Amino acid sequence: MIPQEEIRRQAEIASSLRGRLAGKKALVRTFGCQQNEADGERIAGALDACGYTLTETLSEADLVILNTCAVREHAEKRVLGVIGSLKKEKERRPSLLLGMCGCMAQEAHRREQLKRSYPYVDFVFGTDLLHKVPEIVANALAGGGQKQYVNDLPHDQFGELSEGTPVKRTSPYRALVSIMYGCDNFCSYCIVPYVRGRERSRPSDAVLREVRELAESGCRDIQLLGQNVNSYRGELSFPALLERASQIDGDFWMRFMTSHPKDASDELIAVMARNQKIAKHFHLPFQSGSDRVLAEMNRRYTRAQYLEKALKIRDAMPDVSLTSDVIIGFPTETEAEFLETVELVRQVEFDMLFTFLFSPRAGTRAAKMDGQIPHEEQVKRFEYLSAVQNEVAQKRNDRYVGKTLRVLSDGTDENGIPTGRCGQNKIVTFDRPVPAGRFCEVKIQSSRQYALSGTVV
Ligand code: SAM
Ligand code: SF4
Ligand code: F3S
Repeated sequence: MIPQEEIRRQAEIASSLRGRLAGKKALVRTFGCQQNEADGERIAGALDACGYTLTETLSEADLVILNTCAVREHAEKRVLGVIGSLKKEKERRPSLLLGMCGCMAQEAHRREQLKRSYPYVDFVFGTDLLHKVPEIVANALAGGGQKQYVNDLPHDQFGELSEGTPVKRTSPYRALVSIMYGCDNFCSYCIVPYVRGRERSRPSDAVLREVRELAESGCRDIQLLGQNVNSYRGELSFPALLERASQIDGDFWMRFMTSHPKDASDELIAVMARNQKIAKHFHLPFQSGSDRVLAEMNRRYTRAQYLEKALKIRDAMPDVSLTSDVIIGFPTETEAEFLETVELVRQVEFDMLFTFLFSPRAGTRAAKMDGQIPHEEQVKRFEYLSAVQNEVAQKRNDRYVGKTLRVLSDGTDENGIPTGRCGQNKIVTFDRPVPAGRFCEVKIQSSRQYALSGTVV
């Protein structure tokens, strides 16, 4: 845990910058998962404390920080494209400060590349140095070329935890609360354990305090985050923490993300089923329907064990929505093994499936495996599975027609249509505007694959 003295020292640096940075604007762009978004809100909080006003407009920003993701090649390419395009902006406005952080910053080969090919980036910092943002910004204002800040500890050690740093949230009514950082699972395809370090949990009372403050401020949807929330090790177990959080006064939904199937316990399912305030959405990634592929992935459960868990969840909560992640074209995956995945999708009937083409990540075991599947074959399998999932999703959503759902309004979408999400985390559109951040009851009249629509009752 970072000592509070250090947190105070950073706060002092921030306040010493306030006069100088008044009127300056900062943009934080996040490319990754919700954990990354939550980090982005802490970076924004630190910049706000330094005196920056946050903006979404590049041309008016005096500081731009790219908060990156390394989970697939596509995510990294997007970031490199944006960094490349910022070169012109930097030439036009040399006083513009550019920073890069997040999971890519944690990769040694990327840091080398940034030094070599993108020297105009002023600073780079790793995933566990968020508390140092004021100092990093102060150093950048002093100039002197690209500086890189990364904890150099080996990957089996690094990982710090800090409490008491400011947060600037994107939404007043939907909030992300990280309860733990890092991952110890080392699934053979995944870069996360290397870029996020070892699992470490926030103290339970700190998490509960944050949830209480959010509930008191009128937040309506609070999501507890971790790469594998089931291995949360605070004073409380994860199910106990979730239950205590959901018992805090206030009208809000509690959610969580992500559960690893090997650890999602009966206790968790029971806590969820008996607490009304816990939204009935369970994200349970299965990754593959083949036992051989699951073993190669180091997932540590079998297809049968996954199915048993999924069915238990549906049994305990008939109105639950079950969503999942799957990887297509893992090295050595045969056509027959892919069809086992398709079969599992038909069997479970997921409400929503996030389907990813396997992307080799430098340093992971799967990247070095023989039997990499050609891209065209991956795409073919992807399209086949997507068509099956579209059918399944339509069937799942048809069940809601005629039912009345509680929906948290998000105001109107880009076409002016009133929209929100129900507890099952499905998009629901409705007939008349309801202010964003308010709950309403919507009677569902029709369904599409990935949205429901109805009338406010
Ligand atoms: N910790 C979560 C879990 O285990 O379910 C998932 C975190 S990961 C950020 C989100 C998803 O990205 C994974 O569930 C997996 O499907 C996908 N993913 C991770 N590494 C990948 C890779 N190398 N290629 C393709 N997809 C990948
Ligand atoms: Fe990656 Fe596996 Fe950890 Fe999830 S549990 S973050 S997929 S290593
Ligand atoms: Fe990406 Fe890092 Fe999240 S690699 S998916 S931003 S933990």
